[in-house]
Amino acid sequence: MRDTKFLWWKKEVIYQIYPRSFKDSDGDGIGDLKGIQQKLDYLQDLGVKGIWISPIFPSPMADFGYDVSDYTGIHPMFGNMEDFDELLDSIHQRGMKCILDLVPNHSSDQHPWFLESKESKDNPKRDWYIWKDPDEDGGPPNNWMSVFGGSAWEFDENTGQYYYHAFLKEQPDLNWRNPEVQKAVFDAMRFWLKKGVDGFRVDVMWHMIKDEHFRDNPPNPDYTEEMSTFNKVIPAYSTDQDEVHDMVEKMRNVIDEFDERLLIGEIYLPIHKLVKYYGLENNGAHLPFNFQLLELPWDPEKINAAINEYEGALPEDGWPNWVLGNHDKSRIASRVGKEQARIAAMMLLTLRGTPTVYYGDELGMEDVDIPEDKIQDPQALNEPGVGRSRDPERTPMQWDDSENAGFTNGEPWLPISENYKEQNVKIQWDEEGSMLKLHRKLLQIRAKEPALHVGEYIPVFTDKDLLSYIREYEDQKFLIILNLGASKLNFAPDFDWSGTVKVATDHTLEGKELSNEIKIAGNLGLLIKLT
Ligand code: GLC
Ligand code: MG
Repeated sequence: MRDTKFLWWKKEVIYQIYPRSFKDSDGDGIGDLKGIQQKLDYLQDLGVKGIWISPIFPSPMADFGYDVSDYTGIHPMFGNMEDFDELLDSIHQRGMKCILDLVPNHSSDQHPWFLESKESKDNPKRDWYIWKDPDEDGGPPNNWMSVFGGSAWEFDENTGQYYYHAFLKEQPDLNWRNPEVQKAVFDAMRFWLKKGVDGFRVDVMWHMIKDEHFRDNPPNPDYTEEMSTFNKVIPAYSTDQDEVHDMVEKMRNVIDEFDERLLIGEIYLPIHKLVKYYGLENNGAHLPFNFQLLELPWDPEKINAAINEYEGALPEDGWPNWVLGNHDKSRIASRVGKEQARIAAMMLLTLRGTPTVYYGDELGMEDVDIPEDKIQDPQALNEPGVGRSRDPERTPMQWDDSENAGFTNGEPWLPISENYKEQNVKIQWDEEGSMLKLHRKLLQIRAKEPALHVGEYIPVFTDKDLLSYIREYEDQKFLIILNLGASKLNFAPDFDWSGTVKVATDHTLEGKELSNEIKIAGNLGLLIKLT
């Protein structure tokens, strides 16, 4: 059997680009493909390998590209197919990989498929979407709620039926029980795979199949008025249905028609449900995104438990992965503070499993307050007050201290953080002690040392507020000690050890020889090569 231990997506680091906010090349204030092209050297020098680009397809942009109106095109705002081909080629020339977003659960309501589907009840594409008669009182067919607020059902006057949309009403859900839908999306996947795209991050994978009988979801006993109306019910019948795994397997088969391509699933579920997405025979997603570090409170005991619960729950050949930030969640530096964000970075890049870095987190970018009249995110606009805006974590990348942080010559689509003059790539690149320099060092050593990319994970239990573990490959061992709090703690494991600090969140400690019982200052993280 082929040795799969060193597959690129196991060894390497993935970097998420939110294309609207990465780099604008044409002055319209919105990032684009040519912009990404201009910054490939940066990404290569940084040391990340897999570039995941959030949707770049034609779209009315009701949900900023997560409402696709053509699965095999490029939105003119981002460029054209030539620009894409050139970008893909340049990525490959650098030995890097390109992962696209795939949004199969729903299309745009402006997709020709939906325009046809809503034409009449007997249109051949009627069954491509989820249409239902009203209930006896003329209301929605059941109590399912939209993630973005209100009922998930929208009435269509013309044909007298409702259609289901898990997100915006401009994002009707495709009917994945229909084989024609499956084929249409699989063909779109093949279109990109044939071009050489290295894989997909599949949007809301756990939503793809709904209960066959459309049973009402159970009321959520913990619902309170401050929550989004989505939380009124528990999505027991509208998400994570068993048959979804057949769909994932089919997608995986498409991926496997090509060499070494990657299937990532976006899945927000508890660990025991999440790991099922690897597939029973490892024929599911290669990497069902693990969002625990995004979801858990920053509490060492909870994080420690979760890491080990995850390690324990993984199927035999299931490769772990870790995510610290994305375009839907508050930035790590804002969630846990600047100091702890450094600890988090060290954790992300030393735990066992493929890390995904969200653009800008390598600079310690923070959420940016967006004035009310500038809010763009439909999640916030749809449910003012309770729907959390995702704009703060989507602000433009901070390249340098020139006007608009070097992101655009025009008016940026979202405000740029006020701190960009101090917090930017140009200043941080070589600056000892900067967040970027810390990332560069961690990425470098991670790439060089098999113990840190494919090595075993061995937990070390000491003080409950310290997180520590060993990564081991053949005779190479690294000890990682992370203080998740602000007070000094004692590290005294029940074994003898000695080693050299290779990377520290306090860079003045690098090169130090340490052994056995030591004090760990608050907010300190150490990566130690054991001797
Ligand atoms: C995913 C995307 C999010 C989008 C939603 C609907 O969660 O990450 O940005 O709004 O799906 O497509
Ligand atoms: Mg542009």
